Amino acid sequence: MKTKVANAELNSYVCNASGIKDVAYEELKAIAESNSAAIVMKSCTPEPRSGNEEPRYMRLPFGAIQSMGLPNLGYKEYIRIAAELKKYRKPIIASVAGLSPDDFPKIVRAFQNSDVNLIEVNLSCPNLEGKPQIAYDFNAADELLGSISNLGYKPIGIKLPPYYDLAHFKKIADIIKSHNISFITCINSVGNTLAIDPENETPLIKPKSGLGGLSGGYIKNIALANVKIFRELLGNRISIFGVGGINSGTDAFEFLLAGADAVQIGTVFEKEGIHCFRRINEEFESIMKRKGYGSVLEARGNLKYL
Ligand SMILES: Cc1cc2nc3c(=O)[nH]c(=O)nc-3n(C[C@H](O)[C@H](O)[C@H](O)COP(=O)(O)O)c2cc1C
Repeated sequence: MKTKVANAELNSYVCNASGIKDVAYEELKAIAESNSAAIVMKSCTPEPRSGNEEPRYMRLPFGAIQSMGLPNLGYKEYIRIAAELKKYRKPIIASVAGLSPDDFPKIVRAFQNSDVNLIEVNLSCPNLEGKPQIAYDFNAADELLGSISNLGYKPIGIKLPPYYDLAHFKKIADIIKSHNISFITCINSVGNTLAIDPENETPLIKPKSGLGGLSGGYIKNIALANVKIFRELLGNRISIFGVGGINSGTDAFEFLLAGADAVQIGTVFEKEGIHCFRRINEEFESIMKRKGYGSVLEARGNLKYL
């Protein structure tokens, strides 16, 4: 079940998603030693951040709502951690965030000269008060991609928010194709959603008056559609990480049919712990076998129509 994202070879189809139990060295080491096919690191900013006020993460019956606000150790620490994790011989994926447009080229350039294998640039964080999601502003996204896509040889990918309108898919796909972008990761959590505690008559989380990113099972079908539409618009030259609501090998197989080269697991990792990677990988292998598929490439994008 080997696969490839840009030039990085993954030993299996399933890895972790940025932001879940991947902030500190010990957490990243646990991912390195697990069945996750890659080590995806927390999105990082120029300086360390403690993130938004608590409560900022709440489990829901089929997923979670959160407004973490990018708590992270600052990019220099992730460069140091990548050097330590190199010995595991697993692709290391940096995730870059920024609070201003200049932050992105600064951090990308630094990761270009580090031990990471791929650089995922987060254009879709919904939880920074007063900062719009860059990938929803097409001019800003175009400009930002121009500033980061030719700073070195390591492949650059972008983490996208969900899109809903076919005209918007087309617009952002055209922008992606006009820059040196090797992979996309879709989708980030669905931004600005609300969960309410009816007894307390309050939202479940505190930041942004209760608005937060929705993840888990609630968003799987949005994520599947995003993968499928981007696969059609981007062709096969650009790799796709599918992410959003994956909880089983069957979910992963559905993302494969939609066109994903590999998948990432977030909310289920938070709930189930490190064992989820082995379980989902085993379930994925078993459904591939039952369906008679010998490789990921054989089934990728194989969705049939009614
Ligand atoms: C607690 C939490 C923190 C997250 N932090 C980040 C982050 O730092 N960078 C990022 O690109 N995505 C972040 N995400 C989004 C996830 O990587 C993923 O795209 C989203 O949760 C959907 O996948 P899931 O349904 O498997 O959780 C975060 C999600 C959660 C739940």
